Amino acid sequence: MAIDAAFLDELRNRTPLPSLIGRRNKLVRSGRNWKTCCPFHGEKTPSFYIYDDHFHCFGCGVHGDAISYVMQSEGRSFPEAVEQLASEAGLEVPKADPRTEARAREAQSLGDVLNLVQESYRRRLYRPEGREGLAYLKGRGLTDQTIERFGLGWSGDGRQLLDELRPHEVTVEMLIRAGVMRVDEQGAPKGELFFNRVTFPIRDRRGRIMSFGARTLGDGQPKYLNGPETALFSKRRTLFNLDLAREAVHRGAELVVVEGYMDVIAMDQAGFGGAVAPLGTAMGEEQLELLWRMSPSPILCLDGDAAGARAALRVCEVSLPLLSPERTIRFCQLDPKDDPDSLIRSRGPRAMQEALSGATSMAEELFGLLTAGLVDPGPDQRAALREKLVALSRLIPDKALASEYRSTLLDMFFARFRRKKNFQRKGGESLPLSTQAPGAMRDVESGNLERLNIMTAMLLHHPDILPEVEQAYSGLPLPPELDRLRSALLDWSCQEEGQDGLSEDGCMAWLEDHGLADLAVAVKSGPLPRGVGDEKVRDEILKVDVIESWWHFYGLVNFQTFEREVTADIQNTIMQLYSQDAPAADAGPTFPEGLLARMRALEALRRGEAV
Ligand code: UTP
Ligand code: MN
Repeated sequence: MAIDAAFLDELRNRTPLPSLIGRRNKLVRSGRNWKTCCPFHGEKTPSFYIYDDHFHCFGCGVHGDAISYVMQSEGRSFPEAVEQLASEAGLEVPKADPRTEARAREAQSLGDVLNLVQESYRRRLYRPEGREGLAYLKGRGLTDQTIERFGLGWSGDGRQLLDELRPHEVTVEMLIRAGVMRVDEQGAPKGELFFNRVTFPIRDRRGRIMSFGARTLGDGQPKYLNGPETALFSKRRTLFNLDLAREAVHRGAELVVVEGYMDVIAMDQAGFGGAVAPLGTAMGEEQLELLWRMSPSPILCLDGDAAGARAALRVCEVSLPLLSPERTIRFCQLDPKDDPDSLIRSRGPRAMQEALSGATSMAEELFGLLTAGLVDPGPDQRAALREKLVALSRLIPDKALASEYRSTLLDMFFARFRRKKNFQRKGGESLPLSTQAPGAMRDVESGNLERLNIMTAMLLHHPDILPEVEQAYSGLPLPPELDRLRSALLDWSCQEEGQDGLSEDGCMAWLEDHGLADLAVAVKSGPLPRGVGDEKVRDEILKVDVIESWWHFYGLVNFQTFEREVTADIQNTIMQLYSQDAPAADAGPTFPEGLLARMRALEALRRGEAV
C-alpha cells in the first residue's frame, strides 16, 4: 500500500512523540526534551531521548519516529501502525481516491510527453541543425558516451515541437503543462521555452524525466534556462542527476554536491559518479533530506568565491537544525577561479580527488566562514563571535552532538583568540578537534560523552567531592571542552583546598576569571542524576550520595577499569588492615568511606541498578 507522503507528514506532525511514548514509559525532562529508560533494551539509567519528531537511544542506538515506534513497540506492520496512529489523531488514511488517480494519470501522460520531447531533442543534436550544439559539447570535452549517458540534446529553433509531436496526439496544453511551452499573462501559448540551446534532461530519483535545463552556446543571457515548476517538477525537491548518482553512491562513490549541470557531467566523466547539483536555486531542507537518504556525510563542493561562501553559510544554517549523529555535511573548497568542471579540465581527476579528500567538517567550515577576514578582533568582536558559535551549535537538536559542536567550535575559538594571560592548560595548549589525530574524539562515543558531561556537571555543582574523585577524573579521556574545564577545576582545587573550602560559588568565580564561565554554565545545565543541582533537594542529598553517583557514572564509562581499580584497592586495604596492629577491640576492621562508596557503586552496577 502506497500511502501519500504528505499524509504521513501530517500524521507525524499530529502525533506528539513524548505523549505517545509517555503512555508506557515514565518520562523525565532533559532540557527541552524528554528521556526515559529505553523500552527496547534493558537499562536502569535513561539513555533513550525523545525529541520533537524522533527518538534516539544512546545505549542501544535505536531511533525512529512515531510510526516506527508503534511498529517496534507493538509489533505492527507499517500500514497497521499508520492506521492506528491515524485513528488516534482523528485522521483518515487516504484511500486510493479518484482525484489521486487522476493526478497519477496526468503525471503519466506528462511523463509520456516529456519522453517524446526528449527523443526529439536528442535526435536533433545529431542532425545538421544540431551541429553547433554537438560541437559545443565536444569542445567542452564531453565524449559521445557521456553525451549519450546524460541524454544531452539540441532544442532546435523552438518552432517545431508541436508539429513534430502532433502524430502522438500531443497538444499545446500538454506541452504547456509539461513545462516546455511558455504562456503569456492571459495564458495564451507563447512559443517554446528553449531555442538554440543544448538541453539537459532532468530526471527524478527513478530516472523519469521531469523537466529540462538548457544552455546557450555563446555569451547570451540567461546562460541557463530551467523548466518551470510543474506537476512533475519541483526544483526544491530534486537534484540534477539524482538517479545516476544514487546508483553510484550505492556502489561506493562519494556523494558530492556541485553547483552546475556541467560540473556534474564533468565529474561523472572523470569517474566521480556520485555528483548532483541543485537546479539554479539555493540548497534547501528538502534537498538535504534527499542527500542524507543516500549518504550520512555528503560533500558540498561550492565555488570558492564570495558567493560560494555565502551559499555555504546558508547551507550550514539550514542544516544545523537537521543534523544528528548520523547526518552531517562536509565541505570541499576549490580555488576561487575554479569549478569542478574547470578543475578537472585543467588539472585532471587527480586534482579533484585531492580536493575531495581535503573536505572539512561542518564545524571547521562554520568556523572558517565566520572568522574569514578576522585578523585581530577586539574583545567585543571576540565575545560576539563566541556567542555566535555557541548559538549555532544550539541549533542542533541532538544534545550530545550539540555539545560536541560547541566544544569543537569553542576550542577552535580559544586556540585562535585566547588571550595569553588566560588560563593555560598544564602541558601546553589543547589542540582543537580538527587538528587532533583522527579518531582522538571517536574514543569518546556519544553515550560516554553524555556521561562525561554529567560527571563534570556534578563536579561543578558539588566541587567539594573533587578530592574524592580527582585522581580517577584526571585519568579520563575527555573531549577538549571538558578537558579544559577539568584542568581549571583541578588547578582550582589544589589552590583552594584548606582555605575557603571547595564551594560551588568559589569554583564558578574561578572559572569566570579564567574565561570558562559560559562553558561551565552550559555543562552544568546539561542532564544530571536525580537531586543533583536541584536547589530544593540539594540540602537533603548527602555528599556521600553524590560521590557514589559520580562513581556510578565513572563505572558506566569503563566498567572493567572501575572494577579492576576497586578490587585492587579492596585488596590493598585488607592487607593494610591486617598488617597493622590490631585495631581497637570490638570496632572491627573498617574500610575508608570513599572506598565503601565505590564498592556500593560497583555493586549497583553489577546488579544493573540505577543511581
Ligand atoms: P554557473 O554560472 O556557475 O555556471 O551556474 P556553470 O555551471 O559553471 O556553467 P558553465 O560551466 O558556464 O556551463 C551554475 C548553475 O546555476 C544555474 C544552472 O543550474 C547552472 O548549472 N544557472 C546559472 C541558472 O539557472 N541560470 C543561469 O543563467 C546561470
Ligand atoms: Mn562551469
